[in-house]
Amino acid sequence: MARILTGVQSTGVPHLGNLLGAYLPGVALSKKDENQALFFIADLHSITTLKDAELRRQNTLAVAAAWIACGFDTDKGILYRQSDVPEVCELTWYLNCFTPYPMLANAHSFKDKSNRLSDVNAGLFTYPVLMAADILLYDANIVPVGKDQLQHLEITRDIAGAFNRILGETFVIPEASIQQEVMIVPGTDGQKMSKSYQNTINIFQNDKDLKKNINKIVTGSQSLEESKDPELCTVYKLYSLLATDSEKAELAEKYRAGNFGFGTAKQILFERVMETFQNERKEFDRLSQNPDEVQQILLKGQHRAREISSLVLARVRKALGFSTM
Ligand code: ADP
Ligand code: TRP
Repeated sequence: MARILTGVQSTGVPHLGNLLGAYLPGVALSKKDENQALFFIADLHSITTLKDAELRRQNTLAVAAAWIACGFDTDKGILYRQSDVPEVCELTWYLNCFTPYPMLANAHSFKDKSNRLSDVNAGLFTYPVLMAADILLYDANIVPVGKDQLQHLEITRDIAGAFNRILGETFVIPEASIQQEVMIVPGTDGQKMSKSYQNTINIFQNDKDLKKNINKIVTGSQSLEESKDPELCTVYKLYSLLATDSEKAELAEKYRAGNFGFGTAKQILFERVMETFQNERKEFDRLSQNPDEVQQILLKGQHRAREISSLVLARVRKALGFSTM
Protein backbone atom coordinates (compact mmCIF):
# COMPACT_ATOMS: atom_id res chain seq x y z
CA MET A 1 0.00 0.00 0.00
CA ALA A 2 1.30 3.45 -0.87
CA ARG A 3 0.42 6.34 1.36
CA ILE A 4 -0.37 9.42 -0.72
CA LEU A 5 -0.36 12.74 1.10
CA THR A 6 -0.99 16.27 -0.06
CA GLY A 7 -2.07 19.60 1.38
CA VAL A 8 -3.65 22.78 0.06
CA GLN A 9 -3.37 26.10 1.85
CA SER A 10 -6.61 27.70 2.97
CA THR A 11 -5.90 31.07 1.42
CA GLY A 12 -8.93 31.25 -0.91
CA VAL A 13 -11.86 29.41 -2.50
CA PRO A 14 -10.50 26.83 -4.98
CA HIS A 15 -10.57 27.99 -8.64
CA LEU A 16 -10.60 26.23 -12.01
CA GLY A 17 -6.76 25.98 -12.06
CA ASN A 18 -6.76 24.32 -8.63
CA LEU A 19 -9.49 21.87 -9.64
CA LEU A 20 -7.85 20.75 -12.89
CA GLY A 21 -4.27 20.91 -11.58
CA ALA A 22 -4.67 19.47 -8.09
CA TYR A 23 -8.10 18.39 -6.84
CA LEU A 24 -9.31 16.19 -9.69
CA PRO A 25 -5.96 14.40 -10.28
CA GLY A 26 -5.60 13.96 -6.49
CA VAL A 27 -9.04 12.40 -6.20
CA ALA A 28 -8.25 10.04 -9.12
CA LEU A 29 -5.09 8.86 -7.29
CA SER A 30 -6.98 8.42 -4.03
CA LYS A 31 -9.49 6.09 -5.71
CA LYS A 32 -6.90 3.45 -6.60
CA ASP A 33 -7.28 0.40 -4.35
CA GLU A 34 -3.55 0.21 -3.59
CA ASN A 35 -3.42 3.80 -2.26
CA GLN A 36 -4.33 5.29 1.07
CA ALA A 37 -4.80 9.04 0.70
CA LEU A 38 -4.31 11.67 3.38
CA PHE A 39 -5.46 15.07 2.12
CA PHE A 40 -5.35 18.03 4.43
CA ILE A 41 -6.04 21.73 4.58
CA ALA A 42 -2.80 23.55 5.37
CA ASP A 43 -4.36 26.16 7.65
CA LEU A 44 -1.18 26.54 9.74
CA HIS A 45 0.75 27.44 6.59
CA SER A 46 -1.92 29.97 5.67
CA ILE A 47 -1.02 32.15 8.69
CA THR A 48 2.24 33.09 6.96
CA THR A 49 0.23 35.31 4.61
CA LEU A 50 -3.36 35.45 5.89
CA LYS A 51 -4.04 36.91 9.33
CA ASP A 52 -7.85 37.24 9.14
CA ALA A 53 -9.32 34.45 11.32
CA GLU A 54 -12.86 34.55 9.92
CA LEU A 55 -11.59 34.42 6.35
CA ARG A 56 -9.34 31.48 7.24
CA ARG A 57 -12.32 29.65 8.75
CA GLN A 58 -14.39 30.22 5.59
CA ASN A 59 -11.54 29.22 3.27
CA THR A 60 -10.84 26.10 5.30
CA LEU A 61 -14.47 25.00 4.92
CA ALA A 62 -14.36 25.87 1.21
CA VAL A 63 -11.22 23.77 0.62
CA ALA A 64 -12.73 20.83 2.53
CA ALA A 65 -16.03 21.18 0.64
CA ALA A 66 -14.12 21.32 -2.67
CA TRP A 67 -12.29 18.05 -1.94
CA ILE A 68 -15.56 16.34 -1.08
CA ALA A 69 -17.41 17.88 -4.04
CA CYS A 70 -14.63 16.64 -6.35
CA GLY A 71 -15.35 13.10 -5.20
CA PHE A 72 -12.84 12.45 -2.40
CA ASP A 73 -14.15 9.46 -0.44
CA THR A 74 -13.69 10.44 3.21
CA ASP A 75 -14.21 6.87 4.44
CA LYS A 76 -11.50 5.33 2.25
CA GLY A 77 -9.16 8.32 2.52
CA ILE A 78 -8.54 10.77 5.37
CA LEU A 79 -9.49 14.44 5.07
CA TYR A 80 -8.30 16.64 7.93
CA ARG A 81 -7.26 20.10 9.03
CA GLN A 82 -3.52 20.51 9.64
CA SER A 83 -4.17 22.50 12.83
CA ASP A 84 -6.29 19.66 14.28
CA VAL A 85 -3.14 17.56 14.65
CA PRO A 86 -0.93 19.61 16.99
CA GLU A 87 1.80 16.93 16.83
CA VAL A 88 2.88 18.57 13.58
CA CYS A 89 4.11 21.65 15.47
CA GLU A 90 6.16 19.54 17.85
CA LEU A 91 7.73 17.65 14.96
CA THR A 92 8.48 20.95 13.20
CA TRP A 93 10.67 21.99 16.11
CA TYR A 94 12.64 18.75 16.04
CA LEU A 95 13.12 19.04 12.27
CA ASN A 96 14.17 22.70 12.59
CA CYS A 97 17.20 21.45 14.50
CA PHE A 98 18.20 19.20 11.57
CA THR A 99 17.72 21.89 8.91
CA PRO A 100 20.79 23.82 7.78
CA TYR A 101 20.06 27.55 7.73
CA PRO A 102 21.43 28.11 4.17
CA MET A 103 19.03 25.49 2.77
CA LEU A 104 16.08 27.65 3.85
CA ALA A 105 17.75 30.94 2.94
CA ASN A 106 18.29 29.66 -0.63
CA ALA A 107 14.79 28.23 -1.16
CA HIS A 108 13.20 29.73 -4.32
CA SER A 109 9.80 30.22 -2.77
CA PHE A 110 11.24 32.09 0.22
CA LYS A 111 13.30 34.35 -2.05
CA ASP A 112 10.27 35.00 -4.23
CA LYS A 113 7.93 35.70 -1.31
CA SER A 114 10.43 37.84 0.58
CA ASN A 115 10.87 40.02 -2.53
CA ARG A 116 7.14 40.30 -3.17
CA LEU A 117 5.50 40.55 0.27
CA SER A 118 5.71 43.35 2.80
CA ASP A 119 5.27 40.98 5.78
CA VAL A 120 8.43 38.85 5.66
CA ASN A 121 7.94 36.84 8.86
CA ALA A 122 9.94 33.93 10.28
CA GLY A 123 7.03 31.61 9.42
CA LEU A 124 7.66 32.26 5.72
CA PHE A 125 11.29 31.33 6.30
CA THR A 126 10.58 28.05 8.10
CA TYR A 127 7.58 27.21 5.87
CA PRO A 128 9.41 24.24 4.27
CA VAL A 129 10.16 22.71 7.69
CA LEU A 130 6.46 22.69 8.63
CA MET A 131 5.80 21.15 5.22
CA ALA A 132 8.44 18.47 5.91
CA ALA A 133 6.71 17.75 9.23
CA ASP A 134 3.34 17.44 7.42
CA ILE A 135 4.79 14.74 5.23
CA LEU A 136 7.10 12.88 7.63
CA LEU A 137 4.53 12.74 10.44
CA TYR A 138 2.45 10.27 8.39
CA ASP A 139 5.15 8.07 6.80
CA ALA A 140 3.95 9.34 3.42
CA ASN A 141 5.38 7.55 0.38
CA ILE A 142 4.09 9.75 -2.43
CA VAL A 143 3.37 13.48 -2.41
CA PRO A 144 1.49 14.85 -5.44
CA VAL A 145 2.48 18.49 -5.89
CA GLY A 146 2.77 21.22 -8.50
CA LYS A 147 6.22 21.91 -10.00
CA ASP A 148 6.67 24.95 -7.74
CA GLN A 149 6.67 22.66 -4.69
CA LEU A 150 9.39 20.27 -5.91
CA GLN A 151 12.13 22.07 -4.01
CA HIS A 152 10.13 21.74 -0.80
CA LEU A 153 10.03 17.99 -1.37
CA GLU A 154 13.80 17.92 -1.85
CA ILE A 155 14.19 19.82 1.42
CA THR A 156 11.91 17.28 3.14
CA ARG A 157 14.00 14.41 1.82
CA ASP A 158 17.23 16.10 2.93
CA ILE A 159 15.97 16.77 6.46
CA ALA A 160 14.64 13.20 6.83
CA GLY A 161 17.92 11.80 5.47
CA ALA A 162 20.00 13.87 7.92
CA PHE A 163 17.86 12.77 10.86
CA ASN A 164 18.03 9.10 9.84
CA ARG A 165 21.82 9.26 9.44
CA ILE A 166 22.38 10.84 12.84
CA LEU A 167 19.77 9.03 14.93
CA GLY A 168 19.00 5.86 12.97
CA GLU A 169 16.21 4.94 10.54
CA THR A 170 13.20 6.89 11.77
CA PHE A 171 11.52 8.52 8.78
CA VAL A 172 10.16 7.16 5.53
CA ILE A 173 11.73 9.10 2.65
CA PRO A 174 8.90 10.41 0.42
CA GLU A 175 8.81 10.78 -3.37
CA ALA A 176 7.21 13.69 -5.21
CA SER A 177 4.67 12.90 -7.89
CA ILE A 178 4.26 15.45 -10.64
CA GLN A 179 1.52 14.96 -13.19
CA GLN A 180 2.79 13.52 -16.48
CA GLU A 181 1.54 16.35 -18.62
CA VAL A 182 1.99 19.30 -16.37
CA MET A 183 -1.16 21.21 -17.05
CA ILE A 184 -0.98 24.95 -16.54
CA VAL A 185 -4.45 26.40 -16.64
CA PRO A 186 -4.44 29.97 -17.98
CA GLY A 187 -6.30 32.72 -16.13
CA THR A 188 -8.56 35.46 -17.49
CA ASP A 189 -5.51 37.52 -18.54
CA GLY A 190 -3.75 34.60 -20.28
CA GLN A 191 -0.99 34.09 -17.69
CA LYS A 192 -1.06 31.15 -15.23
CA MET A 193 -4.31 31.20 -13.26
CA SER A 194 -3.47 32.07 -9.66
CA LYS A 195 -5.05 33.81 -6.68
CA SER A 196 -1.96 36.01 -6.51
CA TYR A 197 -2.60 37.36 -10.05
CA GLN A 198 -6.34 37.95 -9.46
CA ASN A 199 -7.11 36.26 -12.77
CA THR A 200 -9.02 33.24 -11.50
CA ILE A 201 -12.22 31.62 -12.73
CA ASN A 202 -14.14 30.73 -9.62
CA ILE A 203 -15.99 27.62 -10.45
CA PHE A 204 -18.02 27.59 -7.24
CA GLN A 205 -19.71 31.00 -7.56
CA ASN A 206 -23.33 31.46 -8.66
CA ASP A 207 -24.28 31.21 -12.35
CA LYS A 208 -24.53 34.95 -12.91
CA ASP A 209 -21.16 35.78 -11.35
CA LEU A 210 -19.51 32.85 -13.11
CA LYS A 211 -20.79 34.19 -16.43
CA LYS A 212 -19.44 37.66 -15.61
CA ASN A 213 -16.14 36.07 -14.60
CA ILE A 214 -15.86 34.24 -17.94
CA ASN A 215 -16.81 37.40 -19.84
CA LYS A 216 -13.74 39.07 -18.28
CA ILE A 217 -11.36 36.80 -20.22
CA VAL A 218 -9.10 39.02 -22.32
CA THR A 219 -9.36 38.26 -26.06
CA GLY A 220 -7.95 39.61 -29.33
CA SER A 221 -9.33 42.71 -31.03
CA GLN A 222 -10.27 41.19 -34.41
CA SER A 223 -13.65 42.13 -35.87
CA LEU A 224 -16.53 39.66 -35.91
CA GLU A 225 -16.00 38.83 -39.61
CA GLU A 226 -12.26 38.09 -39.41
CA SER A 227 -10.85 34.57 -39.19
CA LYS A 228 -9.23 33.91 -35.78
CA ASP A 229 -6.48 31.59 -34.57
CA PRO A 230 -7.98 29.45 -31.77
CA GLU A 231 -4.57 28.47 -30.38
CA LEU A 232 -3.92 32.12 -29.49
CA CYS A 233 -7.17 32.54 -27.58
CA THR A 234 -7.51 31.93 -23.83
CA VAL A 235 -11.23 31.14 -24.21
CA TYR A 236 -10.38 28.34 -26.64
CA LYS A 237 -7.50 27.10 -24.46
CA LEU A 238 -9.80 26.80 -21.45
CA TYR A 239 -12.49 25.11 -23.54
CA SER A 240 -9.88 22.60 -24.79
CA LEU A 241 -9.17 21.50 -21.23
CA LEU A 242 -12.80 20.50 -20.76
CA ALA A 243 -14.06 19.39 -24.18
CA THR A 244 -13.73 16.19 -26.23
CA ASP A 245 -11.49 16.12 -29.32
CA SER A 246 -14.43 16.45 -31.69
CA GLU A 247 -15.93 19.37 -29.72
CA LYS A 248 -12.52 21.08 -29.79
CA ALA A 249 -12.20 20.58 -33.56
CA GLU A 250 -15.70 21.96 -34.06
CA LEU A 251 -14.98 25.14 -32.08
CA ALA A 252 -11.56 25.60 -33.76
CA GLU A 253 -13.30 25.43 -37.15
CA LYS A 254 -15.73 28.19 -36.10
CA TYR A 255 -12.81 30.44 -35.08
CA ARG A 256 -11.08 29.91 -38.42
CA ALA A 257 -14.21 30.34 -40.54
CA GLY A 258 -14.84 33.94 -39.39
CA ASN A 259 -18.18 35.56 -38.62
CA PHE A 260 -17.75 34.16 -35.13
CA GLY A 261 -17.20 36.54 -32.25
CA PHE A 262 -15.41 36.16 -28.92
CA GLY A 263 -18.70 36.84 -27.09
CA THR A 264 -20.19 33.68 -28.59
CA ALA A 265 -17.03 31.72 -27.75
CA LYS A 266 -17.36 32.86 -24.12
CA GLN A 267 -20.99 31.75 -24.03
CA ILE A 268 -19.95 28.30 -25.33
CA LEU A 269 -17.21 28.10 -22.68
CA PHE A 270 -19.66 29.15 -19.95
CA GLU A 271 -22.10 26.40 -20.95
CA ARG A 272 -19.29 23.84 -21.04
CA VAL A 273 -18.07 24.82 -17.57
CA MET A 274 -21.60 24.64 -16.17
CA GLU A 275 -22.10 21.19 -17.67
CA THR A 276 -18.71 19.74 -16.74
CA PHE A 277 -18.89 20.88 -13.13
CA GLN A 278 -22.63 20.63 -12.49
CA ASN A 279 -22.29 17.87 -9.87
CA GLU A 280 -19.32 19.47 -8.13
CA ARG A 281 -21.10 22.84 -8.00
CA LYS A 282 -24.27 21.32 -6.60
CA GLU A 283 -22.41 19.36 -3.91
CA PHE A 284 -20.23 22.36 -3.00
CA ASP A 285 -23.36 24.51 -2.52
CA ARG A 286 -25.04 21.84 -0.44
CA LEU A 287 -21.98 21.49 1.82
CA SER A 288 -21.62 25.26 2.13
CA GLN A 289 -25.14 25.35 3.51
CA ASN A 290 -24.34 22.46 5.89
CA PRO A 291 -21.03 23.43 7.49
CA ASP A 292 -21.73 21.07 10.41
CA GLU A 293 -21.56 18.14 8.04
CA VAL A 294 -18.11 19.26 6.82
CA GLN A 295 -17.06 19.80 10.43
CA GLN A 296 -18.04 16.21 11.33
CA ILE A 297 -16.06 14.86 8.37
CA LEU A 298 -13.00 16.86 9.47
CA LEU A 299 -13.30 15.61 13.05
CA LYS A 300 -13.45 12.03 11.80
CA GLY A 301 -10.35 12.82 9.72
CA GLN A 302 -8.59 14.33 12.74
CA HIS A 303 -9.18 11.18 14.76
CA ARG A 304 -7.85 8.89 12.04
CA ALA A 305 -4.88 11.17 11.25
CA ARG A 306 -3.85 11.26 14.92
CA GLU A 307 -3.87 7.47 15.11
CA ILE A 308 -1.00 7.57 12.61
CA SER A 309 0.76 10.73 13.80
CA SER A 310 0.92 9.68 17.45
CA LEU A 311 2.75 6.47 16.54
CA VAL A 312 5.24 8.26 14.30
CA LEU A 313 5.84 11.03 16.85
CA ALA A 314 6.50 8.43 19.59
CA ARG A 315 9.13 6.88 17.29
CA VAL A 316 10.75 10.30 16.79
CA ARG A 317 10.71 11.16 20.50
CA LYS A 318 12.30 7.84 21.32
CA ALA A 319 15.04 8.41 18.72
CA LEU A 320 15.72 11.82 20.31
CA GLY A 321 15.89 10.45 23.85
CA PHE A 322 12.63 12.05 25.06
CA SER A 323 10.00 10.26 27.09
CA THR A 324 7.25 8.62 25.05
CA MET A 325 4.55 8.69 27.72
P1 ADP B 1 -2.72 29.77 -6.31
O1 ADP B 1 -1.62 29.90 -7.35
O2 ADP B 1 -4.03 30.22 -6.85
O3 ADP B 1 -2.36 30.45 -5.00
P2 ADP B 1 -2.07 27.37 -4.93
O4 ADP B 1 -0.62 27.73 -4.98
O5 ADP B 1 -2.80 27.42 -3.63
O6 ADP B 1 -2.87 28.24 -6.01
O7 ADP B 1 -2.22 25.91 -5.57
C1 ADP B 1 -2.95 24.84 -5.04
C2 ADP B 1 -2.79 23.67 -6.02
O8 ADP B 1 -3.38 23.97 -7.30
C3 ADP B 1 -1.32 23.32 -6.31
O9 ADP B 1 -1.21 21.90 -6.37
C4 ADP B 1 -1.06 23.92 -7.67
O10 ADP B 1 -0.07 23.19 -8.40
C5 ADP B 1 -2.43 23.82 -8.35
N1 ADP B 1 -2.58 24.95 -9.29
C6 ADP B 1 -2.72 26.26 -8.95
N2 ADP B 1 -2.87 27.04 -10.05
C7 ADP B 1 -2.83 26.21 -11.11
C8 ADP B 1 -2.93 26.41 -12.53
N3 ADP B 1 -3.11 27.61 -13.05
N4 ADP B 1 -2.84 25.33 -13.33
C9 ADP B 1 -2.66 24.09 -12.79
N5 ADP B 1 -2.57 23.83 -11.48
C10 ADP B 1 -2.65 24.86 -10.63
N1 TRP C 1 3.07 24.23 0.26
C1 TRP C 1 1.97 23.63 -0.45
C2 TRP C 1 1.39 24.64 -1.46
O1 TRP C 1 1.46 25.83 -1.23
C3 TRP C 1 0.87 23.20 0.52
C4 TRP C 1 1.37 22.15 1.46
C5 TRP C 1 1.65 22.30 2.79
C6 TRP C 1 1.70 20.80 1.12
N2 TRP C 1 2.09 21.14 3.32
C7 TRP C 1 2.14 20.20 2.34
C8 TRP C 1 1.66 20.07 -0.06
C9 TRP C 1 2.55 18.87 2.36
C10 TRP C 1 2.08 18.75 -0.02
C11 TRP C 1 2.51 18.15 1.18
O2 TRP C 1 0.82 24.21 -2.47
